[in-house]
Amino acid sequence: MSLLRESSQGVWGSRWTFVAATAGAAVGMGNLWKFSALAGANGGAAFVVVYLFFMVLVSLPVLIAEVVIGSRGRANPITASQNLAREAAVSSWWQLMGWLGCLAGLCILSYYSVMAGLGIAHIDSIFTGQFKGLTAAKVGEAFNQLLADPWQLALWHSIFLALVVLVVSTGVERGMARMARIILPVFVLLLVIVVLYSNRMGDMAAAQQFLFSFQWQAITPEIVLAALGQAFFTLSIGLGAMMAFGAYMPDGRSVAGLLSAVVLIDTAVALLAGLAIFPLVFSLNIAPSTGPGLMFVALPYAFGHIEHGELFGGAFFTVVALVGLSSGVALMEPAVAWLVERCKFKRLFAALTVGLLAWGLGIVALLSLNEWSDVRWLDRSIFNWLDYISANILLPLGGLLIAIFVGWRMRLEVVRDEFYKHSGVVFVLWYWLLRYIAAPAVLLILLLPLYRWLVATA
Ligand code: PHE
Repeated sequence: MSLLRESSQGVWGSRWTFVAATAGAAVGMGNLWKFSALAGANGGAAFVVVYLFFMVLVSLPVLIAEVVIGSRGRANPITASQNLAREAAVSSWWQLMGWLGCLAGLCILSYYSVMAGLGIAHIDSIFTGQFKGLTAAKVGEAFNQLLADPWQLALWHSIFLALVVLVVSTGVERGMARMARIILPVFVLLLVIVVLYSNRMGDMAAAQQFLFSFQWQAITPEIVLAALGQAFFTLSIGLGAMMAFGAYMPDGRSVAGLLSAVVLIDTAVALLAGLAIFPLVFSLNIAPSTGPGLMFVALPYAFGHIEHGELFGGAFFTVVALVGLSSGVALMEPAVAWLVERCKFKRLFAALTVGLLAWGLGIVALLSLNEWSDVRWLDRSIFNWLDYISANILLPLGGLLIAIFVGWRMRLEVVRDEFYKHSGVVFVLWYWLLRYIAAPAVLLILLLPLYRWLVATA
């Protein structure tokens, strides 16, 4: 994504483009579908508070570290980590950061595409007024029918992936990123309008109570792990996607400030999505632990009951599909960049290869929502396992390696150099958070299930 170098005429312009492009890669289905599903299933406020905590103390420092690696390495994540390991004179095992990232990107892309495909499916059904005046039960039935139909899911999944391959192979990511400048504000605006509607039609007091009334005792190790996973997933960190943005940082940068803005935007979108969805969930008596149904039942129901709902809802889901697309592109880019730079693949061929792998894995994931729903292990379907392993294990692990590498392995002058525009205080604060808070916290949380398992089997 070479937009940033090109657009660095005019400091404000390039800064805003950088923030919009990075936020475009971060904001996506994760803020709507995943945030609401996880908050719903994990007791609301307990999850939200721990998640917010992680966003500031862990994810933001790791995001900055990832951009620092990209800015220094200036290549795909695998080559960048190889180069930097050589520069820091440490083991070449550090390239594992890049490999893990490409693997995580592929896994996430597979089921992300199924969910984003559902988003595209709703553009059509809302524009054509299929939810007009329906009761919540009927909207829920329609959604369950869609989930039960592997052909439909495969169709929308294929369309979404084809779009991602198209964008990545033609290299129009630059255009996409530039488009984020328009799409993101429109998305936020539409979301605010839905919140206002929700406030009128739904039970806002119950939603606020659920999302924000926090009790310490409600926190469990599962909630902590889920919140950490989501804090990585929502910012698209831990897999090298954000390295690409660092590689094209315009000069005269102020990394920490710009990336804090990205975190702020992403968090605001997730909270707005919560305030749009949960008031309806409570007034319609939908169980908060319903999963993706929260988003795909509450919102279509709302659009079926408001004036010009077809147009407004259709536009809303179109924008959702577009922000999903930019996240899909960010997921595919690390592996494609590696195939192009290292294996000398043509871009189209590289995108098709990664697309095909993700497509196959996605088909398995979507079959586990219907035909293979009985295939479960430890009460999780294949879809849920893919999500659990990639978001809750691979991303935090990738983030941990990034934090240790930048915090403990790269030479201080080299890291400092990436911050030359900042005051010493900002640098010291970030470095300290990365070394003493982010890295140990992620390590502890990742080791927790292992410890519990050891205790249980001892
Ligand atoms: N952050 C994206 C979202 O919230 C998903 C994503 C994860 C994209 C990891 C790239 C890498 O939708």
